[in-house]
Amino acid sequence: MANQSVTLPQDFFFGAALSGPQTEGAWQSFGKIENIWDTWSNLNLGDFHNRVGSYAGNDMTRHMQEDFELFASLGFASVRTSIQWARLMDADGKLNPEGAAYYHKLFATAREAGVEPFVNLYHFDMPAYLLRRGGWESREVVEAYATYATTAFAEFGQEIEHWFTFNEPIVEPEQRYEHGRWYPFIHDFGRARIAQYHISLAHALAVDAFRNLQAAGMVRADARIGLINCFTPPYTRDNPSAADLEAVRMTDGINNRWWLDLVTEGTLPQDVVDTLAERGVHLPTRAGDEQILARGTVDWLGFNYYHPARVQAPEHDVDEHGNPVFAQEYVWPDAVMNESRGWEIYPKGIYDFATTMTRDYPDLEWFVSENGIGIEEDRAERDEQGRICDGAYRVPFVRDHLAWIARAIDEGAKCRGYHYWGAIDCWSWNNAFKNRYGFVEVDLAHDYKRVPKESSDWIRRVATTHVVE
Ligand code: BG6
Repeated sequence: MANQSVTLPQDFFFGAALSGPQTEGAWQSFGKIENIWDTWSNLNLGDFHNRVGSYAGNDMTRHMQEDFELFASLGFASVRTSIQWARLMDADGKLNPEGAAYYHKLFATAREAGVEPFVNLYHFDMPAYLLRRGGWESREVVEAYATYATTAFAEFGQEIEHWFTFNEPIVEPEQRYEHGRWYPFIHDFGRARIAQYHISLAHALAVDAFRNLQAAGMVRADARIGLINCFTPPYTRDNPSAADLEAVRMTDGINNRWWLDLVTEGTLPQDVVDTLAERGVHLPTRAGDEQILARGTVDWLGFNYYHPARVQAPEHDVDEHGNPVFAQEYVWPDAVMNESRGWEIYPKGIYDFATTMTRDYPDLEWFVSENGIGIEEDRAERDEQGRICDGAYRVPFVRDHLAWIARAIDEGAKCRGYHYWGAIDCWSWNNAFKNRYGFVEVDLAHDYKRVPKESSDWIRRVATTHVVE
């Protein structure tokens, strides 16, 4: 696909994706209470790259106007960010007026710059006191999320057109509960599925609240609601065994079909639920849950895509923690890697997802809600203007993904736009500022100064002409 010039439809939108906790900073201002990232930072800063914890984001609060003007100058018509639950709501689960004022200002600043704000509600950022009450393993937290969502819709319902309930709802079950990589470092497959089930209920309750408020005129009539997930396509070896295909079924089932069935049918995939039960993993279902899940169908979908999954039959059925294992990694000998992040670069995955959508969910519109390449410290040369010369790696990455999107659209995919992740460098969880994604540098040595990189010229041309060269 490389080196061919392609044109994307004129109504295809370009923009950027970011999140509240990774950009805003101001961690104790505007009435914000402690969230789970602050707890982890306070507990052990050494877990964060260069000991940079959750406190400052990329200092967007002080750069708000400049940042939206930068996004607009890149040709971006929309930017997705998230409201921080711990900023909008107080410790009693009530609206925090200072937090609300903060977000009214953020959205107004975006609009003044000519950028449409897309708003997500949850981006891995639970208030700390709710984790102490059981986190996603607790029904009380599901209810608290529904209250938070309802409060946000009521507060911003006349302002915001594009809403999302969750970003990547599969990630916390995996990172926090199953693989123990994120605080509180749990290694329990069953608890991960309990969290996944409760997040699914929380999503459906939020969609229900959105529809009710829209019917009551409190949410604007043209507003839409969706879900964003990393629907990473799973592949296996050539000439797979039945066991390899089983590994694909369960990987796809837990990571992708679980959410796709929820948002299109309002159900969970029965084959996955049955296989989990056969292996002793039971979801904490209650009477009435099916009716709640049934309300989870959305208006459209966001697809975050960075890398494919390659899996094969596992060597062992159970891991060292006693957890059932359904698949293990398959190392594809031809894989091209982004060594900084340890992720395979496989632009065709975006096309394969599009093909699956067109075949299995033909009515659902979607957009690429995140894509990007994070390179350690962006250690390229600088040009005479002091700009990082990242064009040689960032441009081909984006170009190849856009080329596959263009082809998918030609073949009927309902892909409506593309948001680049972290278009201005931002804080990346425990990797902090290690891997830089931006078209614009954030210079930590000079008070978070914003400096466009070489690639910014290229993306501006693409976003304004829709010609990908
Ligand atoms: C997505 C998340 O998974 O990938 C972002 O929605 C995240 O929050 C992005 O920052 C890039 O991943 P990372 O781990 O390199 O920051």
